Amino acid sequence: MSITITWHGHATFTLDFDGTRVVVDPFFAGNNPAAKLAVKDAAAEFILQTHGHGDHIADTVALASRTGAQVIANFEICNWITAQGHENCWAMNTGGGYGFPFGRVKMTPALHSSGLPDGSYGGDPGGFLISTNGTNIYVAGDTALFSDMALIGQAGLDLAILPVGDNFTMGPDDALAALALLKPEVVIPCHYNTWPPIAIDVQAWADRVRQHSSARPVVLDIDASYTM
Ligand code: NI
Ligand code: MN
Repeated sequence: MSITITWHGHATFTLDFDGTRVVVDPFFAGNNPAAKLAVKDAAAEFILQTHGHGDHIADTVALASRTGAQVIANFEICNWITAQGHENCWAMNTGGGYGFPFGRVKMTPALHSSGLPDGSYGGDPGGFLISTNGTNIYVAGDTALFSDMALIGQAGLDLAILPVGDNFTMGPDDALAALALLKPEVVIPCHYNTWPPIAIDVQAWADRVRQHSSARPVVLDIDASYTM
């Protein structure tokens, strides 16, 4: 199986599993200052929603409604998505896993918050461990560093997608510490440089990753892809 990861800016990715497109945290041009792609031009068969903040969910209903994509999210967010008029939402909760056509998805914990844009309760924030044909991809979501990342790393990670921008999530130092727990083969950074409070020197961070971890950093340009 060929898996291609495309970064649209901030925490929005398309994971393409042999043509099945899984969009993580839809936040596209017009809403996302880092993005070039508009939601009307995005494609998805599935949407993975880590939590309910606007910089992750602003374009979820628009993308899901036009494409018919199934949203995968926690129970509270699914109720909210359904109330917005999109009924194709698969509810999960922390620690649970389920098999989808592109792979098994397990909802992992995240240390963050999760209010929805209209003030509704968004349940607990999360991340996702996606396992398919022996390949394990960890999408951390917005999170602080937590020591149970070592348990997630026990799966044997081929790729980890981590927030590194500081202020709202882990910063560069804690993301480096996370790599010591997760031990992924490759790390792709996200959630940085979208706005001034999360501006970092990502190439300097990538140099530190090369020097102080066993992971290979892949720093993507906007709409650039990494194929594994
Ligand atoms: Ni957030
Ligand atoms: Mn965020």
